Amino acid sequence: MANNTNLGAAKAAKNDEFYTQYADIQKEINAYLEYNPDTFRDKVVLLPCDDPEWSNFTRFFAQNFERLGLKRLISTSYAVESKKYKNYQPTLFETESPMFDIDKTRIKGKIFELTHDTNQNGRIDIDDLEWHYLEGDGDFRSKEVCKLRDEADIIVTNPPFSLFKEFVSWIFEAEKKCLIIGSQGAVGYKEVFPHIMNNRLWLGNGFSAGNAYFGLPKELVREFASGVYDEKTGLVKFRNCCWLTNLEHGRRHEPMKLMSMKDNLRFGRHKDLKENGYRHYVNYDAIEVPYTDSIPDDYLGVMGVPITFLDKYCPEQFKIVGTCENLDIYGLKTRTFTSEECRAAYQRKFGKPGTYDLNAAGVVQMEDGHYEKVYQRILIQKI
Ligand SMILES: C[S@@+](CC[C@H](N)C(=O)[O-])C[C@H]1O[C@@H](n2cnc3c(N)ncnc32)[C@H](O)[C@@H]1O
Repeated sequence: MANNTNLGAAKAAKNDEFYTQYADIQKEINAYLEYNPDTFRDKVVLLPCDDPEWSNFTRFFAQNFERLGLKRLISTSYAVESKKYKNYQPTLFETESPMFDIDKTRIKGKIFELTHDTNQNGRIDIDDLEWHYLEGDGDFRSKEVCKLRDEADIIVTNPPFSLFKEFVSWIFEAEKKCLIIGSQGAVGYKEVFPHIMNNRLWLGNGFSAGNAYFGLPKELVREFASGVYDEKTGLVKFRNCCWLTNLEHGRRHEPMKLMSMKDNLRFGRHKDLKENGYRHYVNYDAIEVPYTDSIPDDYLGVMGVPITFLDKYCPEQFKIVGTCENLDIYGLKTRTFTSEECRAAYQRKFGKPGTYDLNAAGVVQMEDGHYEKVYQRILIQKI
């Protein structure tokens, strides 16, 4: 597996066991608090798909319960027998608790709750967490976890990558606030993108330099090449990870500093763009902008931009009008290609028979006349 392995690879490996670091959670939450110190005040926060005994989400929110002004913290876990990864030992915390049940430990989920100072030491913190087994396995789709979701104001977690689309729909069907981790690629899913387009979901503050490092069970390490898994830290690196949220943070209202089209073509730092100019798509009434920093600030038509644009997206500067994709759910395609054209484009590009799905993306025509698909693009327009 290459060094730039991503969450898609984790998904392909059917691996959902990645654990978020405390410092990443802290840094992300601080961005919301800086914008509004009362973001979490008097709120019920639910942390589903967690493993409360060792989860940094549970640790962070429990330790900061008073500082954040929380009303109630709920954290739930998924039973080991229901997980894809079953190599698990109950923690001492569980086995030494009077609640421990040898029959339930593998098949039931758990719920941890924090609402008040149970040990009467004058403060509400991690030592006041109370727990018991759930009726079921803690599946976020189960009736009892849905009930907890409905009682919550804000849902925070790193959900299972393999169920990401379902998880996002689960949040929105209950119209909840959220802060979750996902892959940038998932942003294009039809279950996710309409929320982004309509400003119901946006990118969070983000991981340092776009790199995210997660803990994982030792037995799963062999799925990753060296360079991706770091033996010293015991962490695995993903490069295309992001936080997705509908909580306000200041950064998303900062407009990008951009140049005019003319200046981009004269002074921009991308040689290919300077040489070829901004191409117009063959199948959309829009221009192809291959780099976010080359978005011209004086072009009033539609532009296709890389998905990484979302990290800089300011809704006061641009509106999102759709994506270039197969189903054309946004009704923006100006033409579709016949299967004959797709086959001809493949033959021309790869020199052998096959089919090149020109309808799945924005298509530009190159100097020699052949059709070329561009990478995944978001269609935007200046406001
Ligand atoms: C990416 S891990 C993140 C764990 C934890 N939230 C963290 O960030 O440290 C996702 C967790 O969801 C669990 N999970 C998988 N399918 C689930 C489901 N249907 N319902 C609830 N949890 C699930 C996995 O077993 C895994 O522990």
